[in-house]
Amino acid sequence: MINFKEQIGALLAEQIEGLTAEELTAMVEVPTDSKLGDYAFPCFRLAKVMRKSPAVIAKDIAEKISENEMFERVESVNAYVNMFMGREVFMREVLAEVASMKDRYGSSDVGQNRKVIVEYSSPNIAKPFHIGHIRSTVIGNAIYKLYDFLGFDTVRINHLGDYGTQFGKMIVAYRHWGNKEDVVKSPMEALRGYYVKFHEEAEKDPSLEEEARATFTRLENGAEEETALWEWFRDESLREFGKVYKMLGIEFDSYAGESFYSDKMGRVLSELKDKNLLVESEGAQIVDLSEYNMSPALVTKKDGSTLYITRDIAAAIYRKEHYDFYKNLYIVASQQNLHFQQWIQVVELMGYEWARSCIHIPFGLVSLDDGTMSTRHGRVVFLEDVLNKAIERTREIILEKKVNTEDVDVTAKQVGIGAVIFNELSNGRIKDYVFSWDKILNFDGETGPYVQYTYARAASVLRNAGEDEESILSKGQSADLQYICNDSAYELARLIYEFPDRVYEAAEKYEPSIVTRQIVDIAQSFNRFYHNEHILVENEDEKKAKLLLTYAAKQTIKNGLLLLGIEVPERM
Ligand code: ARG
Repeated sequence: MINFKEQIGALLAEQIEGLTAEELTAMVEVPTDSKLGDYAFPCFRLAKVMRKSPAVIAKDIAEKISENEMFERVESVNAYVNMFMGREVFMREVLAEVASMKDRYGSSDVGQNRKVIVEYSSPNIAKPFHIGHIRSTVIGNAIYKLYDFLGFDTVRINHLGDYGTQFGKMIVAYRHWGNKEDVVKSPMEALRGYYVKFHEEAEKDPSLEEEARATFTRLENGAEEETALWEWFRDESLREFGKVYKMLGIEFDSYAGESFYSDKMGRVLSELKDKNLLVESEGAQIVDLSEYNMSPALVTKKDGSTLYITRDIAAAIYRKEHYDFYKNLYIVASQQNLHFQQWIQVVELMGYEWARSCIHIPFGLVSLDDGTMSTRHGRVVFLEDVLNKAIERTREIILEKKVNTEDVDVTAKQVGIGAVIFNELSNGRIKDYVFSWDKILNFDGETGPYVQYTYARAASVLRNAGEDEESILSKGQSADLQYICNDSAYELARLIYEFPDRVYEAAEKYEPSIVTRQIVDIAQSFNRFYHNEHILVENEDEKKAKLLLTYAAKQTIKNGLLLLGIEVPERM
């Protein structure tokens, strides 16, 4: 598609000496107020070189470029050249692009031959998969889809928390207070119960902590009985997680979690030693990071057992050797900022020049209206329950509003789960937020249901045209676009035009909310167009043009929703 900014840059380069077309392109702005043009070029920087006032320069440039057929008109206002695009030229370009790219509109191949690892979700086995985990899962999935859409070679990794001292605790608790039947009947509830029970009892009897540590060491050394229990807990937990992933439509290429690295620790430790990075401190081994204003990284405990951070160092090295990544992304809560800063620093100190290609992508906390949740004391909301509740509530709304659907169950699932995901991806990821049912299911707010509803509305307009999509597109080629050059149509087309840039920006900033924002804007703009204009008019030429624009809006919303991991209902 024509990059209009670049075209303008090239045009300006013909008039202005001393700056390249690229530099000029970078100076072109999009005014927030569309009355000031579609694009604006500030002339302040030119004054010194050209020895004229910025206002005079702006006036000269405006006169010289105004003849170009790209523009409807060009004005100078003070130091700015304000450019108004020729709407018909613009429309033709944008609509043809969407019509030819279809499901690929917004994609590119910039990522070709570069591998990006996206690590997300990574729940802890035998601890509940709670609503706090939804953030990593949903943000990570969207980031993976963005990179995939941009042509990167992606690997999705679930770095399961399936190792560590908490497994000592689980096993101890199971042996003291558990029984097999409960675990078989309802694994997550039973396992979580043990975890809670352990902490309650350990407060009264601290020797349990010692027992748990010893049990974990036996597990690390491959003791048969402990290993069998651990494997069983792991399998049961994975089965439960699988249910949630299925509901969310999420998959992984690898479930290599912490335990996967348990036999790769020796190498890390000896490498650290060889590189003179290890310091002994009260029997434990640490890497001193005081030079970087961080507390030391504790890599082995007194009893020789390794830690979370040791496994992360091993994982990064393994991934580089196994996948040779271009970037290795970790979607993990901001509470772990220090942890990531520490181990990435350690990897750098080990001399790996790729250390900074490991990137922590933090996000803020979710809390419920009644305060933050905590796993330790068992006051937690399960993700699966949240999703089921979302579906249930959506079903009620669908029945109450008499929403148009062929299958209430299917639509309730698409919309309910879509609402939860959309809400997650609506705010900048770093912000903490409070989860509120009323907000996320509001069909009129800036929500998932609203955008899906708008999509279904556009789909219904196209159905009511009584033609299939191919025929709408082929007739559209000869459409008279004069009919869609008014403000509401033009505004919509501009938002559609921006979509590919927003996709790119969202990937680059690891910020799916940029795409969410854009499709909300497109949905709102389409609804204005829909209300202002009659689409299925008598006049064939006019109808052709309007249907083409409707198609483009629908297709762009669809591509955006799918990138976020949200389904698109054809009827609603
Ligand atoms: N299992 C951890 C948790 O739930 C998250 C793992 C993050 N990934 C990592 N490579 N450290 O807190």
